[in-house]
Amino acid sequence: MTATAPPGPPDELVVEGGAPLRGTVVVPGDKGIAHRAMLVGALAGGPVRIDGLPGGHDVAATVRLLRACGVPVAEDPGGVRIEGPASWREPADVLDCGNSGTTIRMAVGVLAGREGRFAVLTGDESLRRRPMGRVVRPLRAMGARIDGRAEGERAPLAVRGAVLRGATHHLEVASGQVKTAVLLAGLGADGVTEVVEPAPSRDHTERLLGALGAPLERPTATRVRLRAAAIPGFALRVPGDPSSAAYWAVAATLVPGSRLELPRVSVNPGRLGWVQVLVDMGAAVEVTPIGEELGEPVGVLSVEAARLHGIDVEVTEPIIDEVPVLAVAAAFAEGTTTFRGAADLAVKESDRIATTTALLAALGVEAEPRPDGLVVHGGRPRPGRLEAAGDHRLALAGVVAGLALAGRTVVAGWSAHAVSYPGFTAALAAVRAAGGGDAR
Ligand code: S3P
Repeated sequence: MTATAPPGPPDELVVEGGAPLRGTVVVPGDKGIAHRAMLVGALAGGPVRIDGLPGGHDVAATVRLLRACGVPVAEDPGGVRIEGPASWREPADVLDCGNSGTTIRMAVGVLAGREGRFAVLTGDESLRRRPMGRVVRPLRAMGARIDGRAEGERAPLAVRGAVLRGATHHLEVASGQVKTAVLLAGLGADGVTEVVEPAPSRDHTERLLGALGAPLERPTATRVRLRAAAIPGFALRVPGDPSSAAYWAVAATLVPGSRLELPRVSVNPGRLGWVQVLVDMGAAVEVTPIGEELGEPVGVLSVEAARLHGIDVEVTEPIIDEVPVLAVAAAFAEGTTTFRGAADLAVKESDRIATTTALLAALGVEAEPRPDGLVVHGGRPRPGRLEAAGDHRLALAGVVAGLALAGRTVVAGWSAHAVSYPGFTAALAAVRAAGGGDAR
C-alpha cells in the first residue's frame, strides 16, 4: 500500500492586476543593515537594542547562528536585545545559514578570529552553489584557517578560529558582504586592515562602525582602513529597506492612477541607484530626507504612475539586487533597456540572468541574456505563469508585473518571497483597498 499525502495548497500567488495602488507602505527594515547590526552587536562590549528588525528567513538565519554561538539574542517587541558583552562558545552543531549569502559570508569573518573555536557553516542548495572563495581568500591572508569544498570555494565551510593580523586586500569583485567580513575580522586583528575595491559597494558597515567611534578611515569611495577596536553598546532603529521599497516604486509607476508613500526608508545614496535608473526611464519618484540613524540617512520616498522608456543601465553592486524588478519596469517601457556590467547576477540566489530572462519571456516580452546582464525589448507584456525559481527577488518582481497587467498572473514558487519580505501580501491588500480596488 502506498500512502499519499493529501495535496496541500499550491505554492503560488494569483494576481489580478490593473487596480491602482494608493496610500502608505511601511517597508520592512533593511536586511543588510539588520545583519550587520546583529553581528556588530554580538561583538559589542555593552547592551545592544535593535528595533525594526525585518522578518524573513535571511535575518532569522543570522539570529539562529548567533544563538548557536552562545550570543544571547533575546526577542523584544519589534526587535532584539543582546545583553553584551556576549560570551561566545563553540557551536555544538553545523550552522545552517539557509538561503542567506549575507549570513554565511559575514559570519565567516567574525568566526575566523574566535581563537580555538571550530565552526562549520552551510546552507540550502542555492547557497552551497554560490562562490565563497572571494571571502575565504582575503580572510586566509589575515591568518584565518578556513576550509571548504573545492578548496574553500563552496560551502560547507569549516572555520578554526585563529589570531588574525591586519592586511591590505584588493578585492576581486566589489562586494559589501566580503568587505564587511574582512572589516569585522579586522576589528579583532593586530594592525591595520585595509580593503580596496574595484568599484564602490554598499557601505552600511563603515557607517555603523564609524558612528560607534571605531577608528575607521575612508580615504576614497573604494578604500577603507580600520584598526582593532572595542565596540560600545548601542540602540538602533533599522530604517526601511530600499530594495523592498523598489517593488512598490515600480508597481506604483506601472499601474495607472497609483500614488504611494514609503516612509522611513534608508536613503543611503549608495542604495538609491535604482531610483536614478527609474527616474532616467521617466518615473516620478521623489526622495525627501528626514534624518539619520547611526550614520545611515533616512527619508521618505513618494512615487506616482508614469510612462517609461528604455535606457542603458550600467549595473553597480549597490543596485544589483534590483535588476529583476527593474527588468520588469523595462518590460513595460517603450523601447530597449540594456543592463550591463553585472556578471555577478549569475551567482545570486538563482542565476538571475537566466531566471529574469525566463520571467520576461513568460510575460511575452523579448529579452536576451548576456554574460554581464540582459537586454529587454519593452512592449506589450501579457499575463502569464511566472516562475520564482526559488529566488525571493524573482517572486517579488513577478508579482509587480502581475499588478501592472489586467488579467490573471500566477507567480509559482511564491513562498520564496518570505526570505526577505514575508509581509508583502498584507501590505498589498491595504494599498489596493486604499486604491479603491478589492484586496485580492
Ligand atoms: C549585500 C551585498 C550584495 C547583495 C546582497 C546584500 C550586502 O552581495 O547582492 O543581497 O548586504 O552587503 P555581494 O556582496 O555578493 O555583492
